[in-house]
Amino acid sequence: ERQKSIRNFCIIAHIDHGKSTLADRLIEKTGMLTEREMQDQVLDNMDIERERGITIKLQPVRLVYKRSDGNEYILNLIDTPGHVDFTYEVSRSLSACEGAILVIDATQGIEAQTLANTYLAMEHDLTLIPVINKIDLPSAQPDMVKEEIENVLGIDSSEAILASAKEGIGIDEILEAIVEKIPYPQGNEDAPLRALIFDSYYDNYKGAIAFVRVKEGVVKPGSKIRMMSTGKAFEVTEVGIFRPKAMPCDELRAGDVGYIAASIKNVSDTRVGDTITDDENPASEPLPGFRKIPPMVFSSIYPSDSSRYEDLKAALEKLQLNDASLVFEPDNSIALGFGFRCGFLGLLHMEIVQERLEREYDMDLITTAPSVVYKVTKTNGEVLYLDNPTNFPSPTEIEKMEEPIADATIMLPKEYVGPIMDLCQERRGTYKGMQYLDEKRVILEYELPLNEIIFDFFDALKSRSRGYASLDYELKGYKESSLVKLDILVNGEVVDALSLIVHKDKAYERARKIAVKLKESIPRQLFEIPIQAAIGSKIIARETVKALRKDVLAKCYGGDVSRKKKLLEKQKEGKKRMRKIGEVDIPQEAFMSVLKIG
Ligand code: GTP
Repeated sequence: ERQKSIRNFCIIAHIDHGKSTLADRLIEKTGMLTEREMQDQVLDNMDIERERGITIKLQPVRLVYKRSDGNEYILNLIDTPGHVDFTYEVSRSLSACEGAILVIDATQGIEAQTLANTYLAMEHDLTLIPVINKIDLPSAQPDMVKEEIENVLGIDSSEAILASAKEGIGIDEILEAIVEKIPYPQGNEDAPLRALIFDSYYDNYKGAIAFVRVKEGVVKPGSKIRMMSTGKAFEVTEVGIFRPKAMPCDELRAGDVGYIAASIKNVSDTRVGDTITDDENPASEPLPGFRKIPPMVFSSIYPSDSSRYEDLKAALEKLQLNDASLVFEPDNSIALGFGFRCGFLGLLHMEIVQERLEREYDMDLITTAPSVVYKVTKTNGEVLYLDNPTNFPSPTEIEKMEEPIADATIMLPKEYVGPIMDLCQERRGTYKGMQYLDEKRVILEYELPLNEIIFDFFDALKSRSRGYASLDYELKGYKESSLVKLDILVNGEVVDALSLIVHKDKAYERARKIAVKLKESIPRQLFEIPIQAAIGSKIIARETVKALRKDVLAKCYGGDVSRKKKLLEKQKEGKKRMRKIGEVDIPQEAFMSVLKIG
């Protein structure tokens, strides 16, 4: 039977353990691309992914593996991201597969996302094939890693494959294991169509394209399909597979991974997790969907040139087509005009969206400080969930403030336990426990406010453990906390876009740093400019930008003409990037610099 020659699998791993490199080797080995066609890393194809060396979007590809006995197998590989922000994408690709290759770096062992992803795969009942990668390195410790696989993951390590994706060692064994161990799909081809959308993509010519795993039935051009969550119907214009570029084919049948195009104008009609069925012969039940992960971090984005609001809107809409986890709604600020309040999965996700807007859509942006969602109980009993400091009620109206708390798992070599515990303490963490992985490494459990994690916790963790500690966290709930809203005043006026929520104990330090930073980045003007930080009506920090001395200006006049011209041009250039707050011009950099304060 046809499905017996199909295997659908993904590769899961902690970041940098070698997923993409292994995927490349599998592609190469199955002879899908000649070496010349093979770019550095075929699957990481977004510019930013290449530069940062990380996978963000999952990317399916269909391989044809010819076994030594002459039989051919179709292997559908779905690459997954490793960073904690993108766990959601991992979970989506898992739903399209029957098995997963679990890659573990032989020099690092099991790390936080190895554990998290393994649990996810187990939840989805996937068959796991452990692969110990990078055995070419002198510091590789495959035996230690095997022990960890047994002790920490509870998986039989005798089946683990020793490999080097870089040197091409163990690749044949991996291909064999995929065919041998991963179950083939067993969907009924005669049943009504049920295809799970695990991703979508917007194509300017073909419209929204759904990436699907067909679980049951058949779909082909001309089929009338229906989205089960909305009931909307479309006529299929094209179906195809990934090699790795989209390639049209005649039909997709139960067991297949591929794409469906149906002149769908709106990407919200190809909702990830939705089930596509046949409009004339619909299935009675949709497939189990995905847990929708709400955004955890919010920030406002404004075009630095306010006339480009519509461009920014169009860019965000386009981006959202390819990034279902990005949410946004119109927002406006007294200081910055019209923009958007955006929700992200985490800080890395936020940075990537901003970078893509600037690069791919040529936008110059001003972004406000990232914030989590706070729970505010007012004195009149009303409960609000707020992510935008601007919308907070005045302190006198607030009965209780609560902040989101995460359960954090940190894995690290034991010699760094001291510095990392100090770090967690500084970040208002609550110690929950410690466990030895083996004689060298430990797992630390902490309860940490999400607000403290999203700033620069990750960087601090890496620098205090020389890169060896890894982190995974999961939102747990809300906890009461002494939080205050810090307002920044420039020349006596509150700059709403700079307001932020901080813990009371950290307010003074933060306020002082912001005031100093602003003083450094606001150019002197003809008058003195006070910069103040306040909680309610109480000023807690103050700096002053001194007035420009007249003779500094005078020097320019009567001087050489070309110099004056240059100066004028420079001024004009500067103007574009200035925001007028009352009487004061604030350069874009000032907003940026404030945001960089952890
Ligand atoms: P993300 O996609 O961002 O999660 O990372 P990844 O897991 O795909 O890792 P990637 O394939 O980008 O590899 C990370 C680094 O490890 C790269 O510098 C690779 O060249 C290197 N690497 C991967 N496999 C091997 C290996 O077998 N041996 C050695 N020495 N280096 C390897």
